[in-house]
Amino acid sequence: MDLNWNQIPEEVRFGIRYLSAHFYPKRYMSRWSILKPLSMKFVGNVRGYSPQQYQEELDHFEFFESYFRDDPLSEVELPSSYIDFFDELMKDFESGDIQRIVTRFHLVTEGILATTGLNVLRNAGERYGLTRFTQGIKHIIEDEARHINFGLSLVTDKTFALRRLNEIYPQAVKIVSDGRKHLEALTPFPDIVKMMEELRRAREVQLKI
Ligand SMILES: [Fe+2]
Repeated sequence: MDLNWNQIPEEVRFGIRYLSAHFYPKRYMSRWSILKPLSMKFVGNVRGYSPQQYQEELDHFEFFESYFRDDPLSEVELPSSYIDFFDELMKDFESGDIQRIVTRFHLVTEGILATTGLNVLRNAGERYGLTRFTQGIKHIIEDEARHINFGLSLVTDKTFALRRLNEIYPQAVKIVSDGRKHLEALTPFPDIVKMMEELRRAREVQLKI
């Protein structure tokens, strides 16, 4: 935790913890513990999916775990829309269907939701002078950019991917809308929605090439 953490406004601190919990949902981890062996299987099944990327995801958890050690994220409750979304992701992993996995996980979860959330966290960290936090988030942003490109390279059925994008995107918007009161302590809500919409359009363009 940064030394000046306690000097920033209470609602900003909570907003940062609330959004960070989306990246490390400690309170709900046991619900998705099956994801770990399943995603390991995915690593084994997909050529080029390096264990390094899997390791990076674990490192991201570790960053949030250690940064919030004194103010644990396990106390943060997330909306049911978030839980439903990850229940669906688990089903996608269970199906073993790579097109299902990459469209929900790489395209929407990482490519839209996480990218938006990480931007909001980085901006808040910079605005409030949270040096260590900002540094950690920037590192995660770099890793995620690679993961997203990797996922997009696995899309073989573009029609299916576009259909899934349109189907899953509203679920992502719902998660963000359900957190509105906490998120707008960090960034005006219309700006967050705009960021998501721009990313959705960019992904759509990438898929159409
Ligand atoms: Fe990732």
